[in-house]
Amino acid sequence: MSRKPVKTKPQQTKRWEGKEKPDWLSRALARAGVFPQKEAETAILAGRVTINGRVALMPLAPVPPGAVVKVDGLPVQLGAPATRVLAFHKPAGVLSSTARQHRTGTVFEVLLPQLPPELAGYTWHAVGRLDVESTGLLLFTNDDKLVAHATSPDTRLPKRYVATVFSIADDARVEPLRQGMTLDDGLARPAKVVVRDEHTVEVTLTEGRHHQVKRMLGAVGLPVRALHREAVGSVDLKDIPEGGFRLLSDEEVRESLHYEGRGTTAGE
Ligand code: URA
Repeated sequence: MSRKPVKTKPQQTKRWEGKEKPDWLSRALARAGVFPQKEAETAILAGRVTINGRVALMPLAPVPPGAVVKVDGLPVQLGAPATRVLAFHKPAGVLSSTARQHRTGTVFEVLLPQLPPELAGYTWHAVGRLDVESTGLLLFTNDDKLVAHATSPDTRLPKRYVATVFSIADDARVEPLRQGMTLDDGLARPAKVVVRDEHTVEVTLTEGRHHQVKRMLGAVGLPVRALHREAVGSVDLKDIPEGGFRLLSDEEVRESLHYEGRGTTAGE
């Protein structure tokens, strides 16, 4: 049997090995919350940004560690900003992705315009997804490690959903969800399930697969009519109105999401 020669990638010169890697300018400004990335690019192209005293006209210019970066002559603090987390109450009918589809808008289009100036500059990531018609708690963060932490099945962060179901729910029917059931993409972990009334079932999962709640309930003959997420970890919606948000405190991020964020968010 002839074997294809194995191609090895040319070894890249690791110019920054052992040192902190430089970020590029527009991204560094966005990460630090100075501007959203698009605005950072516009400001750079307009000649408003300097690196070590020289006007930087290229958004992709590297920012060496320790460089002094100024915007409109005023120094800005670059580097990883403090972890910030927003609890957003997702309304029905918007996508959890960044791109709208046809006439369907996105959660970002609802959330971003309401952010006050001190939160508007960050690059926000949705922490997981809710289906377009699902409502309830969707977290956003500027810290991509938190996204990985909160969405990894290994973290086992509980997510509590309330499903309104067609057909009649009772304990016998939902038992397979409690035992752990096989879905078409493998075994689903045992879920905590409470039948609140014959059309309302609370399901708490410690993983988050595509359409998981709908698939689990559908498999036991309880098709889902509406789905709402009440809590992630021990963060809940409290009294956030639909479409609204609140900023979590550092303590909530630590204790309710079991995540040690970067720096402080409160009282900065
Ligand atoms: N499970 C679902 O089926 N849909 C969601 O939006 C979230 C969890």
